[in-house]
Amino acid sequence: MNRTAFLVVATSFAIFLSSCSTDASAPPVIVATPQPLSGERLVYVVGCVNCHHQTPKEILNAPPLTIVKSYSLPEFKTLLKTGVTRNGRDMYAQGSIMGIVAREQLSYLTDEEALAIHEFLQKSWTAERGVKEEAKIAQFPPPTFMKN
Ligand code: HEC
Repeated sequence: MNRTAFLVVATSFAIFLSSCSTDASAPPVIVATPQPLSGERLVYVVGCVNCHHQTPKEILNAPPLTIVKSYSLPEFKTLLKTGVTRNGRDMYAQGSIMGIVAREQLSYLTDEEALAIHEFLQKSWTAERGVKEEAKIAQFPPPTFMKN
C-alpha cells in the first residue's frame, strides 16, 4: 500500500469510527429560557381554574377560588401538599377529588410555585373573574364524559 492509499484507508476508518460515536443516543438537552414564575399562568396550567370555575357544578362542586384569600401561606402549603383544609378537614380521607389531586399532583409544586399561586389568588383573583370563567361553560361543547 502506498502512502496515498494508506491515508485514504486511514481517513475512511476514522470517519467510520466517528459515526459509531454514542452521541446520537444521548438524551436531547433542552435549553429552557428562564421564565419569571407566574401564579396566574400556574393556576391555569395546574388546573385550579378548570376544576373550580370551568367545570359544571353538577360534575365538580368546587368552591370559587376566592376561598384562597382566607388561607395563610403555611395553611395553603399544607392544603397543596396533603389535601387538609385550614379547618383541619382531610379531603383525601373523605375521598374528595381535591384531596387526591393535592397528594398526587399539587404536592409536586415547589415552595416558590406555591408562593406564586398563593400571591396571585390572594391579590389578583376576583369573584368577577371567577364568574367570567364560569360563563365560558355555556360556550364549551356539551360534556360527553358523564353520559356512560
Ligand atoms: C381536579 C379538580 C381540582 C383541581 C385541579 C383543583 N381543585 Fe381545589 N377543589 C376541587 C374540589 C371538587 C373541591 C371541593 C372538595 C371538598 O370540599 O371536599 C376543592 C376544594 C378546594 C379548596 C377548599 C378547601 C376548603 O377550605 O374547604 C381550596 C382552597 C382549593 N380547592 C384550592 C385549589 C387550588 C389553589 C388549586 C390549584 C393549585 C386547586 N384547588 C386545584 C377540585 C379541584
